[in-house]
Amino acid sequence: MAMTKRLTIPRPDDWHLHLRDGAMMEGVLPWSARHFARAIVMPNLVPPVVTADQAAAYRDRILAALPEGVVFEPLMTLYLTETTDPEDVSAAHTSGLVKSVKLYPAGATTNSASGVANFDTVRPILERMAEIGLPLCVHGEVTRTEIDIFDREAVFIDEVLDPIRRATPGLRVVMEHITTAEAAAYASNGGDDLGATITVQHLMLDRNDMLVGGIRPHYYCLPILKRKSHREALVRAATSGDQRFFLGTDSAPHATDTKENACGCAGCFTAPVALSCLAEVFEGADALDRLAAFTSVNGPKFYGLPVNQDTITLEKGAAISRPAEIETGAGPVTVFDPGRPLYWRVTA
Ligand code: DOR
Ligand code: ZN
Repeated sequence: MAMTKRLTIPRPDDWHLHLRDGAMMEGVLPWSARHFARAIVMPNLVPPVVTADQAAAYRDRILAALPEGVVFEPLMTLYLTETTDPEDVSAAHTSGLVKSVKLYPAGATTNSASGVANFDTVRPILERMAEIGLPLCVHGEVTRTEIDIFDREAVFIDEVLDPIRRATPGLRVVMEHITTAEAAAYASNGGDDLGATITVQHLMLDRNDMLVGGIRPHYYCLPILKRKSHREALVRAATSGDQRFFLGTDSAPHATDTKENACGCAGCFTAPVALSCLAEVFEGADALDRLAAFTSVNGPKFYGLPVNQDTITLEKGAAISRPAEIETGAGPVTVFDPGRPLYWRVTA
């Protein structure tokens, strides 16, 4: 049987990306802009991007940091707090500046201290968002100390997400970086107002990869890697072609020394190798013909944006060389290595 060696697809977008700010942003931005046309940019800076003015200023800083001649469109998000002003959110949406609002349960992950502790306080904003059609991107993990870290996503769906969706009909929701069979099943049973992003690392790795034979801090991210059967459910969802599932790399740079640390930061820096990794995953599932749906078509459809006109080409050949680390003005950042050779390169 002839093996597909070459694949041309509409240029992908990244529907969940951490670019950070300052020297770190300047260092990592070119790696996303090389392959992706657009990205939903996460607002968990310190301090977070809460208001429309802050989002506009952050967008300007990103555009100013782009290398000469590189085209890349940052799609901005607002960080939802208990004191967020619905009028400000609404105006940011009307002007086209902001494409979604991000819900972090307080304390769930990196820089989430200003997130939402009492979900009733944000009800008026969620209702306004449902009216105007502005999507809510959700970090779906409960934070109660008694809930085991491996159960936090599944519990969140039952205790928080489903009640919010029932109480706010019409609210468009993206379940971000889903990691469990439960989340995949919930998303695939949702209507057109529900989407779910999946990361590269959750499609390639399970918790054994992170913990057996030594602890691998560069595989530590949140939500944490789960057992193999969950990874398999995610691969089925991503490769199904179902329009509810699309790519959000959650590429999350941290300086190497802050991950190789007694208390290491959560996040995998996948941007440089994301598409090589995904081609591998889709080829393994005999679904290369559905890669474009996941990387390039389903996301724009959910956000009501056009599919990119230009294309990229992936080619399979000898194992690719990739940097182990990239240098940034904020220190070196280790590039995600799935622990196996990668054979697909982006050629154009
Ligand atoms: O692993 C993660 N890293 N998960 C998140 O939710 C946040 C992210 C970060 O900002 O580093
Ligand atoms: Zn994230």
